[in-house]
Amino acid sequence: MKKLIIAIDGPAGAGKSTVAQIVARQLKYTYIDTGAMYRAVTWQVMQSDVDAGDAEAVQKIVCAMQIGLQYVNGKMRVTANGVDITEEIRLPEVSRVVSEVAKLAVVRTAMLTLQQQMALQGGVVMDGRDIGTHVLPNADLKIFLTASIEERAKRRWLELAEKGVSVELKDLQEEIYRRDKADSERTVAPLVQAKDAILLDTTELSIDGAVNAILRLCEERSRSV
Ligand code: CDP
Ligand code: CDP
Repeated sequence: MKKLIIAIDGPAGAGKSTVAQIVARQLKYTYIDTGAMYRAVTWQVMQSDVDAGDAEAVQKIVCAMQIGLQYVNGKMRVTANGVDITEEIRLPEVSRVVSEVAKLAVVRTAMLTLQQQMALQGGVVMDGRDIGTHVLPNADLKIFLTASIEERAKRRWLELAEKGVSVELKDLQEEIYRRDKADSERTVAPLVQAKDAILLDTTELSIDGAVNAILRLCEERSRSV
C-alpha cells in the first residue's frame, strides 16, 4: 500500500497532536509535531535577551540552533542544541509568546524548509497550522481538526492540572482565543482550512472517534492514490 502524506491542521487544543500520534503509530508512519518546533524556537528566544518581535535578532538565533525531534521509549522528545526541552516548551509562558515568534517570516521560512525535508520519504503525519496550505500543499489527505473554544480550553486545563500546573480556566480560554486570532490573522501562512481539507469537529467526539474517522479516510485515500 502506498505510504501517504497526511496533513492535520487546526486551532489550539483541538486534539491534533494526540490524534496524529495515534494515527501515525497505527499506520507505522512518522509523526511530526511542527508546533513543537515553533515552541522550541520560542524557548530559545526566551533564554536570550532578545525581544520576540526583533526579526533580525530572532533570525540569528534560528540560524544558530539545532532542533531535534526524537522518539525515546515511544515518547517524542524535543531538543534545542542537544538540551531536552520537551516539558519546558509546553509551559504557559511559552504558549503566551509563541504566536509572536511564529508570525516572523524569517522563522517560518526556516521551519518550512526543515518540515518539507522531514516529509520527503512519505509515510508521514504532520500537524500544525499551515501544513495543508503551505508546508505540504500536495498532501494525500488533509484534515482540519477543530472543537468549540470552551471544549478546547477545558481539555488544555485538564492536561495542565494533571501535570500539576494550576491556571484559571477563564485565563486559559482567553489565551487560546488570542493565540488562535494571532495565528489566523498573521500575514505569512495563517491558520486557515485548506480548500481540499476535510473538516472534523471533535467537540462531541472522543479521541478514539477522531482517530477512527481519520483511519477510515486514510484507507479510502490509499485505495485511490
Ligand atoms: O498544542 P497547541 O495547539 O497549543 O499549539 P502547538 O501546535 O504546539 O503550536 C504552538 C504555536 O506554534 C501556534 O499557536 C502557532 O503560533 C505556531 N505554529 C505555527 O505557526 N505553525 C505551525 N505549523 C505550527 C504551530
Ligand atoms: O495538538 P492540539 O493542541 O490540537 O491538541 P492536543 O494537545 O492533542 O489535545 C489537547 C488535550 O485534549 C489532550 O489532553 C487530549 O488528550 C485531549 N483531547 C480530548 O480530550 N478529546 C479529543 N477528542 C482530543 C483531545
